[in-house]
Amino acid sequence: MLRHYLQFNDCSRSETEYLFARARWIKDRLRQGQPHHPLQGKTLAMIFEKASTRTRVSFETGMGQLGGQVLCLSKNDIQMARGETVEDTARVLSRMVDVVMIRTFAQSMVETFAAHSRAPVINGLTNEFHPCQVLADIYTFLEHRGPITGKTVVWIGDPNNVFYTWLQAAALLDFKVHLSSPAGYPVDEARVPAAERSRLETFADPFDATRGAALVTTDVWTSMGFEAENEQRRRAFQHWQVNAALMAHAAPDAVFMHCLPAHRGEEVTDEVIDGPQSLVWDEAENRMHAQKALLEFLLVGEVKTP
Ligand code: CP
Ligand code: NVA
Repeated sequence: MLRHYLQFNDCSRSETEYLFARARWIKDRLRQGQPHHPLQGKTLAMIFEKASTRTRVSFETGMGQLGGQVLCLSKNDIQMARGETVEDTARVLSRMVDVVMIRTFAQSMVETFAAHSRAPVINGLTNEFHPCQVLADIYTFLEHRGPITGKTVVWIGDPNNVFYTWLQAAALLDFKVHLSSPAGYPVDEARVPAAERSRLETFADPFDATRGAALVTTDVWTSMGFEAENEQRRRAFQHWQVNAALMAHAAPDAVFMHCLPAHRGEEVTDEVIDGPQSLVWDEAENRMHAQKALLEFLLVGEVKTP
């Protein structure tokens, strides 16, 4: 059956737990220098309508390590920029390649592409969601602190694409999300189904939100595509910064994560991002291991991990 990964809950809880276990095995195998080439002869096409460092490098390197090859298509390389429809692009590309990753603006674009694709489609970030990021983030938490079920994750700042993906993950894997965002930047209740609402608690004060949290996370004040609001957001978010004083309110063994790229001195201080509680470099590396598990799952299915 053709499967896509467009939102975090496109995989069930047990499939997501399989991906974590498989990522662990794939990562260990790479570290041991053992080749693992289940995707030999397969091609991944990537379409980028926004900039990327981690997503591009992790997918490109990961697909190569699995024995496959990669085509990287930026917006202006392809006829979509000159008006070829998303539907027609999906029909054509998916007759030649085996899997497609897309980074774009509207979630509806990846949904439309997937509806007309013969190949699995992976969301590599839209304005609405970033499922590969949260998959790697929770895998990273698991490596350092064990299962996330029952824990509290605090999100400081903009309730953006990564935040809404955390909410989907909270409903799927049964943990709590605390949010503190400035007035004028509330959670959009229309985007939060009841199963996610019951996992979410919102706080006006970032310090109250952080009390007792096992994982403190944040993201830039202005996401890609919203640059026109930069100055206004810089003023609104200035007190929503993860700094040492805020971290001191979290659980004593709390960890800090950031999907990166970070704007140091804005949403996070150097002291925190470079400090002992920060997992940001493992988190970035784990994009590759988690996405290798995902690519293998979408193309080959579940494999018994020895
Ligand atoms: N976190 C993340 O997706 O990074 P890039 O924008 O560099 O791909
Ligand atoms: N929320 C950020 C994440 C970047 C990886 C953005 O969409 O720009």
